[in-house]
Amino acid sequence: MKRIGILNSGGDCPGLNAVIHGVVGAADQMGWEVIGFRDGFEGLLPPGNFTYLKPKDTIGILKLGGTILGTTNKGHFVAKVGKGDIAKVPDEIVAQAKQTMDLLGIDALVVVGGDGSLTTGLQLFREGWPIIGVPKTIDNDLSATAFTFGFDSAVSTVVDALDRLNTTAESHKRVMVLEVMGRHAGWIALWGGMAGGANVILLPEIPFDLNRVAKFIKRRQMQGQLSTLVVVAEGAKMPDGELVTVGSTTQGEVRLGGIGEQVAHALEKLTGKETRACTLGHLQRGGSPTALDRITGLRFGVMAAKLAAEGAFGRMVSYQAYHVDSVLIEEAVNCLRLVDPNSEVVQAAKAVGICLGDQ
Ligand code: F6P
Repeated sequence: MKRIGILNSGGDCPGLNAVIHGVVGAADQMGWEVIGFRDGFEGLLPPGNFTYLKPKDTIGILKLGGTILGTTNKGHFVAKVGKGDIAKVPDEIVAQAKQTMDLLGIDALVVVGGDGSLTTGLQLFREGWPIIGVPKTIDNDLSATAFTFGFDSAVSTVVDALDRLNTTAESHKRVMVLEVMGRHAGWIALWGGMAGGANVILLPEIPFDLNRVAKFIKRRQMQGQLSTLVVVAEGAKMPDGELVTVGSTTQGEVRLGGIGEQVAHALEKLTGKETRACTLGHLQRGGSPTALDRITGLRFGVMAAKLAAEGAFGRMVSYQAYHVDSVLIEEAVNCLRLVDPNSEVVQAAKAVGICLGDQ
């Protein structure tokens, strides 16, 4: 019997279990077996940390957040270090993991991960492994796919938070600043802010001037709009051009966070209005996936199984123009998709009077 291995790698994201459900269901129909490796690539290290997955094991997981297989963004297989530098996974680690692959007779390994994990997958593919990639990120910043599962759930969490912040902001006539995730891309901030009725949205892609934002808030005040909702992306840069960080990971990658407090402090000083900051943090990654993320994850999983059956290794599942397809992994990694300041969606935000801090 042919066997598909599957692992989740990097940060978790709502919809991972939907992918597992899709792979297991489709593989079963193909007459293939599925083995799930625990905690990312680490599960491949001898003696192997894995479980056989049959359709009965995936009953009810579609709606669950997180991943039943566990994941990690640390360990022996990290490809991206520091400022996006690419590290090679050491030969002896690759050789050890290969032993597990061979012992279990894995014919295709589905790697569900973001840019870093897919970069590891690409190295392994180039070393002859039967790799199939599935893109995963709440940040929605992979250029080779128009959309990834997890993003919609994160945006929904931002919208829910803004709905809640709005009532307290109105009651106290305050400015509320909400810091959201997204790393160096502003998609979560832009979509969440627009859908949640934010008045100000500050993005990594659009340099902002807090004096302009303060003027905007004061103008609102004069027009009788006494509260203001500000969304700031964690990867936005303060006017001095600096990222706001809370140190770095063990791999030397910066950990973003803290810009919300800084923006709130500056706006309070500039406007004289009472201002509070709220950081949404990992709430954006947790909880049940939305319906869209469930179906996207499921379709991605089915496509991954199909690519395995076709022997289409080195390819990554990709969503393009309303259908699920695939692209070469090497075309998908190291190419972030950022918000285009001149795009229609940014213009739409401006057209309805949202301040992006640039005008
Ligand atoms: O890439 C997903 C993401 O949630 C980013 O938006 C965020 O900056 C980062 O991961 C947080 O990572 P960690 O879980 O390691 O704190």
